[in-house]
Amino acid sequence: MKAVVYTRYGPPGVLRLADVEKPVPKRGEVLVKVLAVSLNGSDWETLRGKPLYSRIGGPFRPQHHVLGSDIAGRVEATGPDAALFRRGDAVFADILSHMGGFAEYASVPQSALSRIPAGMSYEEAAALPQAGAIALQGIRDKGRAGAGQAVLINGAGGGSGMYAIQLAKLLGAEVTGVDNTGKLEFMRSLGADHVIDYTREDFTRNRRAYDLILDLAAYRSPLACRGSLKPGGRYLYVGGSVATLLQVLLLAGLLTGRTDGRKIRVLAARLGVQHLTPLIELCQAGKIATVIDRRYPLNEVPEALRYLGEGNAKGKVIVTVE
Ligand SMILES: NC(=O)c1ccc[n+]([C@@H]2O[C@H](COP(=O)([O-])OP(=O)(O)OC[C@H]3O[C@@H](n4cnc5c(N)ncnc54)[C@H](OP(=O)(O)O)[C@@H]3O)[C@@H](O)[C@H]2O)c1
Repeated sequence: MKAVVYTRYGPPGVLRLADVEKPVPKRGEVLVKVLAVSLNGSDWETLRGKPLYSRIGGPFRPQHHVLGSDIAGRVEATGPDAALFRRGDAVFADILSHMGGFAEYASVPQSALSRIPAGMSYEEAAALPQAGAIALQGIRDKGRAGAGQAVLINGAGGGSGMYAIQLAKLLGAEVTGVDNTGKLEFMRSLGADHVIDYTREDFTRNRRAYDLILDLAAYRSPLACRGSLKPGGRYLYVGGSVATLLQVLLLAGLLTGRTDGRKIRVLAARLGVQHLTPLIELCQAGKIATVIDRRYPLNEVPEALRYLGEGNAKGKVIVTVE
């Protein structure tokens, strides 16, 4: 089968389309004919091996040679003890732990798969898994955003931010989206009440305070972010620099028990499409839209990743596999 492979960390140029062995589903696995894969910030990070957390499992060379984690497709075959699905079922999954989506076929543990809900396209199903889980847990479950609360989403013009802005608005929050100049209009179109261009303004210095800061691109000092929280406010680190991550972990311990209740935490999202039901229902009811910025064929995965990594993508970028 065709797959886009790489054997060393680097820019999109290290990727190449190659003929590789079609996987054979092992016990409990299902072979999926991949029809659509969405790109995530994590693909870009694991391609380059930056930040350092993207090298967990492969400090010097990539652990997995095929990237791509959010897949949608059709069941082609089932392995031993994998009776939950049948050939032809339309399914989707987040396979971040072992990757392999930028390929014609992927072998997936049946526990990671769900059927694509009625009326949902393969592309929308591929867009949802990782970005949807981060938005749902970061805004609703752990972020506890609610009516009248001030919510700031840093990195709001990307994949997770696209769902996070809409969800926070639906919950009645006043939303500030932060991203680069080219994404300001896009964030407004999703419902953001205020937008901040991070290339011109540091949101930690504008003297505004928030009930929730969801940090999808955490490169600023968490102590400064804490200064932008209202009493009782929450800061959640989702992705960004390792230095910020370590500071968050340190501060979370040091500040425990402080009386004004401001909390600094890492969001460790529970990934898996089985947790996405509330978001899927909102999508099906037409209350949350999946915005697909661009589509690329499999052989153009390097261009697609470059587009994402250079900060152009507004919403999701999808690779469609023939
Ligand atoms: N915690 C968890 O459980 C978990 C699970 C999976 C993934 N993640 C992480 O979640 C993060 C977000 O993923 P995603 O797929 O939503 O990424 P994405 O689609 O690439 O979106 C990130 C957005 O942040 C913007 N950005 C970059 N630097 C910024 C800065 N200094 N200030 C404000 N915005 C900035 C990017 O635009 P520009 O680059 O261009 O300007 C982009 O629009 C990734 O780091 C990923 O590793 C976390």
